[in-house]
Amino acid sequence: MDLTLWQYQFRIIMLGDSTVGKSSLLKRYTEDSFLESINETVGVDFYVHFLEVEPGVRVKLQFWDTAGQERFRSVTRSYYRNSVGALLVFDVTSRASFEHIKEWHVEVCERVQPHKVLFVLVGQKVDRDAHQERAVSREEAGKLAGQLGMPYLEASAKTGQNVREAFELLTRRVYQGLLSGEIELQEGWDGVKCAAPQALRLQRSSASQPSTTPKNNKKCCG
Ligand code: GTP
Ligand code: MG
Repeated sequence: MDLTLWQYQFRIIMLGDSTVGKSSLLKRYTEDSFLESINETVGVDFYVHFLEVEPGVRVKLQFWDTAGQERFRSVTRSYYRNSVGALLVFDVTSRASFEHIKEWHVEVCERVQPHKVLFVLVGQKVDRDAHQERAVSREEAGKLAGQLGMPYLEASAKTGQNVREAFELLTRRVYQGLLSGEIELQEGWDGVKCAAPQALRLQRSSASQPSTTPKNNKKCCG
């Protein structure tokens, strides 16, 4: 099957303070590489990755990697509305980056109404645990995630620990949201897109199993 074909496109935004490792997580996930001296993000960068969420259902993940620095906030804010999912990232060795998570969450939720964004909280740089540099415990972060209604994972872009798991957890959450009707496709909203009918036909003819159709997906795939 042609890997560039996809049935759904999900727009996923990376959020969190500067230097927590948002770009590094994406680099690890999409290129399996890590840089000790990676450039700070200026405005927003774009990454693409494909994931098969079930046999015959390929999702194109379009990532918006935002700059954590405050001076870019007016640019990055404009990307919230057309996102369906967000990885909310803090650095487990930075207390301040953890304390800002609530603010990131409130800001996104307020700005995307009436749409909904599904989140996963990621505690980054757990490889530094070995050097006793941790400033936020797993319990405390898990508790916050519970309060905010999102799952929590600890990851390291440096070692690769839990990186794929974090992205896939979020993607599957969005896909389940689509199937259940929690996420609705709407005119003028680009958080989720469906493939052109021709691409779908090609995919279906080569798919090993029939794909599941989301409840609210009549417009795209009918
Ligand atoms: P902005 O683009 O400014 O918002 O920052 P960012 O969140 O994208 O952080 P970035 O990925 O640029 O990483 C910042 C620094 O942290 C770099 O020096 C990375 O090498 C380092 N870093 C990123 N992830 C990890 C990790 O998992 N472990 C360790 N030890 N360092 C990391
Ligand atoms: Mg960055």
